[in-house]
Amino acid sequence: MTEQQVAARADEDMTVDPGGELPVDDVRALEEVLVLDFGGQYSQLIARRIRECGVFAELLPSTTPVETIRERAPKALVLSGGPASVYEEGAPPFPTQLLDLDIPLLGICYGMQAMVLALGGRVESAEAGEFGRTDLVLREGGGHLLGGLPEEQSCWMSHRDAVFEAPEGFTALASSPSSPVAACELPDRGLYGIQFHPEVVHTPYGTEILTRFLRDIAGCEQQWSPKSVIAEQVEKIRAQVGEGRVICGLSGGVDSSVAALLVHRAVGDRLTCVFVDHGLMRLNEAEQVVDAFQQFGIPLIHVDAEDRFLAKLAGVDDPETKRKIIGAEFIRVFEGEAEKLEDVGFLVQGTLYSDVIESGGSDHAATIKSHHNVGGLPEDLEFELVEPLRMLFKDEVRAVGAELGLPERMVWRQPFPGPGLGIRIVGGEVTKERLDILRAADAILQEEIRAAELYRQLWQSFCVLPVVRSVGVQGDGRTYAYPIVIRAVTSDDAMTADWARLPYDLLERVSNRIINEIRDVNRVALDISSKPPATIEWE
Ligand code: XMP
Repeated sequence: MTEQQVAARADEDMTVDPGGELPVDDVRALEEVLVLDFGGQYSQLIARRIRECGVFAELLPSTTPVETIRERAPKALVLSGGPASVYEEGAPPFPTQLLDLDIPLLGICYGMQAMVLALGGRVESAEAGEFGRTDLVLREGGGHLLGGLPEEQSCWMSHRDAVFEAPEGFTALASSPSSPVAACELPDRGLYGIQFHPEVVHTPYGTEILTRFLRDIAGCEQQWSPKSVIAEQVEKIRAQVGEGRVICGLSGGVDSSVAALLVHRAVGDRLTCVFVDHGLMRLNEAEQVVDAFQQFGIPLIHVDAEDRFLAKLAGVDDPETKRKIIGAEFIRVFEGEAEKLEDVGFLVQGTLYSDVIESGGSDHAATIKSHHNVGGLPEDLEFELVEPLRMLFKDEVRAVGAELGLPERMVWRQPFPGPGLGIRIVGGEVTKERLDILRAADAILQEEIRAAELYRQLWQSFCVLPVVRSVGVQGDGRTYAYPIVIRAVTSDDAMTADWARLPYDLLERVSNRIINEIRDVNRVALDISSKPPATIEWE
């Protein structure tokens, strides 16, 4: 089997591996690197790449007081790029007190320029900026930072100002057509700078350069891994919760599932999960969630609330009203269950690091995830939040989930909106009959996409049921039935998305199967809109 076939096979796998007890103390990551953010578009990516090198990294604003940094005792600092010119009024300055910390420092792009300027080097606006792939030539053998790498290589640049002269004592290590000093270092003081972006994949030696800085220069040991996350979080959760009781709302998505598994590892049966099944899930999905959590032996309250939700949705076709009804009903059901449990003081939330960064940084103020305000919980619930994924990026959550034994199918599940299929029956009322048609069509699409080994490459793939009918002919008879629209998109973060170029033969198979196997459908269409101007969901 090819690797992809293995992955596709694994997608089908719902086997649970509850794993064994962890030797907690052995695997905790003790070292960290702080990335000071000057507002660059790749700042988050720098933190991710450092973590991929096995070292924990956290992003902090460039204005973070030096005392705060000192208390954290990081092994090294990285200064990110940023949109400003160092000469612009209000441009964030290089915090010179960082030099007193006496730890290795790597300035990237703006971070390098700000450092160079503060230390007496010459930074000027170059005749031409450099954006995109750029040729880099090493000088002085590349020094500590770049030594041993190919003398000529390509790298990814994104800047207008450039360093023309390194500060006194520094060695210039490389140049590019518009950057006379594209890298420099002063090893005795642990200062390093590069004009290009090692964190993007278009810099072929980027990871090697980062690894060299982290391991050889800063002396970091590779400790950060899914195992270390689990060990650390288990300890943290135990410290926070003590002997308390915890509740967790499961959605079936990877975030809430992994958060629940982590908390269960930490406090065992003092965690109760509540799965509100609103009847708007995809085919067999509710059963899969219940089954997986039962196999883990996690106390789970499965509330079959389909009738309640459908009754509330009867006669409603306005999208916003649907969303509000589903959201409000969800909260009512969840609260009803929470009230039945005694002494619950804590609520688990699957907040991710990207949510934390988006909502203003990594201070530890509680943030409740309330995407579109549906599927989220109200802020006035009287629980203390437990957020074991606050420091993790999505791909790290998946890795932790896999390490905890979460079935592959759940680890790799594409995002699914809180209001579920309720917002995929468009322009009309949500009824059981329409839900069943949509579920059947969606199941066919998913099956074929998995079989074509495309599931993981797509951000989302799903079917939409517009509430209109059109004429068709089947056998000898005229039909008057629903269309199904196929929506498949690629995206990195759902902020923008492109329609996926699915192979024609796959589309043909899906279309044939949907029309042949589902009586009430006689037409299949493909949505070829990007976001913007369209959105991913139809409502
Ligand atoms: P749109 O349709 O705005 O969706 O392009 C962006 C992403 O968000 C998901 N989505 C939701 N997720 N509750 C959620 O948890 C919601 O109410 C909701 N609405 C949309 C959508 O599936 C896509 O990934």
